Amino acid sequence: MERTRITIFDTTLRDGEQSPGCSMNVQEKQKLARQLDRLGVDVIEAGFPIASDGDFTAVQSIAAEIRRPIICGLARAVPQDIERAWQALKGAARPRIHVFLATSDIHLQYKLKISRQKCLEQAREAVRLAKSFCQDVEFSPEDATRTDMHFLCEVLNEVIEAGATTLNIPDTVGYSVPADFGAFIREISQKVKNQEKGVVISAHCHNDLGLAVANTLAAIEAGARQVECAINGIGERAGNAALEEIVMSLRIRPDQYAYDTDVVSEQLYPTSQMLCDTIGVPVQPNKAIIGRNAFAHAAGIHQDGMLKNPLTYEIITPKTVGVPDSTLVLGKHSGRHALAQRYEKLGHEFDRRELDELYRRFVLLADKIKTVEDRHLLDLIKGRRTPDHTQPFAVAASAAAGQSSREPLHKPGPAAFSADPNASTPQLSPGSEHHGEQEDYLWGV
Ligand code: KIV
Ligand code: ZN
Repeated sequence: MERTRITIFDTTLRDGEQSPGCSMNVQEKQKLARQLDRLGVDVIEAGFPIASDGDFTAVQSIAAEIRRPIICGLARAVPQDIERAWQALKGAARPRIHVFLATSDIHLQYKLKISRQKCLEQAREAVRLAKSFCQDVEFSPEDATRTDMHFLCEVLNEVIEAGATTLNIPDTVGYSVPADFGAFIREISQKVKNQEKGVVISAHCHNDLGLAVANTLAAIEAGARQVECAINGIGERAGNAALEEIVMSLRIRPDQYAYDTDVVSEQLYPTSQMLCDTIGVPVQPNKAIIGRNAFAHAAGIHQDGMLKNPLTYEIITPKTVGVPDSTLVLGKHSGRHALAQRYEKLGHEFDRRELDELYRRFVLLADKIKTVEDRHLLDLIKGRRTPDHTQPFAVAASAAAGQSSREPLHKPGPAAFSADPNASTPQLSPGSEHHGEQEDYLWGV
């Protein structure tokens, strides 16, 4: 299948930093821009030069230093913004001016207080001015998805004539769903003269309905060849489409998406971490691709599967996105297999009977403290008091002295547990010793 290249336009340093608590100073933007370069994005939108002297300096210094990707600066469709953007960008190896003007009636009437005719003229003049400075000009009709289609295409054709090289279609308020956004992009590509002029259609989706990535993928299928996105999905309100999710969706499902990017996926996690560290805003633990739990397995069933073969529960190898390794989190849903493995890593091996006893005590502890860490495991066998004040483990001495037998953990036999409905945790059946192949599978159901 022939594969098509998608341009990754990163707006972490512009739309991303517009989200509350995410703003960055000059040095922070420079550091992130170097990392975005390592990540392999095609366009870095470095800022909004008219917004502040700091942002001007950030765009200017990134333009001077980062030579491979296109460096872009945002400007409203007014001369002073465009001139300021060009002053910041003119030292770039590959500069781009990004001009935007709202086109929806809601914005024209209530925000800009201008007519459609005035909007059309302003867009044309702004792009002409930008083009007089710079060959690479992107135009965005803000609030495009709530704009009348006929008028939108009129504006887009006008800016193509004025020299725009990329038409970015923003779902500014995150109102779209994948089917209508895809159809919207398709209709635009059919109605405007982008193809004959070699103009690229781009998508810029906000996440108000949690659909920014899905909408972006729908746009690609409908003909968009540039996508605007941000690391960790940061951006105005609910954020922008998350770069890491778009890139990995394309990479993990080549059967569905015949599209490639030049992103170095191993740099996704380091970039995400650097951003969190810089702005002091963590991502939710269950965030796809780069969240703390994205490669963490807690249920005994899953841990057992992972230990047998990671393919059972992981569609992405952690190293592919730069995460050092999968983790098996020890908690009350964990099984013996994971517990034994963790003890082995800590240098302790136990025979089956010892492990049963240890596991019983581990579950009592896990029920109280949620996540059991290595130090707690060592406390359990070394005679120290654990946070639940259980007594130390009786076989500690022999295990530490290396006298434990090496009986296989998955010895066939009846399941170990009987769930006591009155107990807060399942109890070991009195006298049970041997536990079947299935126990970690059953545990945690
Ligand atoms: O969401 C939006 O409309 C924007 C434009 C400036 C592209 O960020
Ligand atoms: Zn935006």
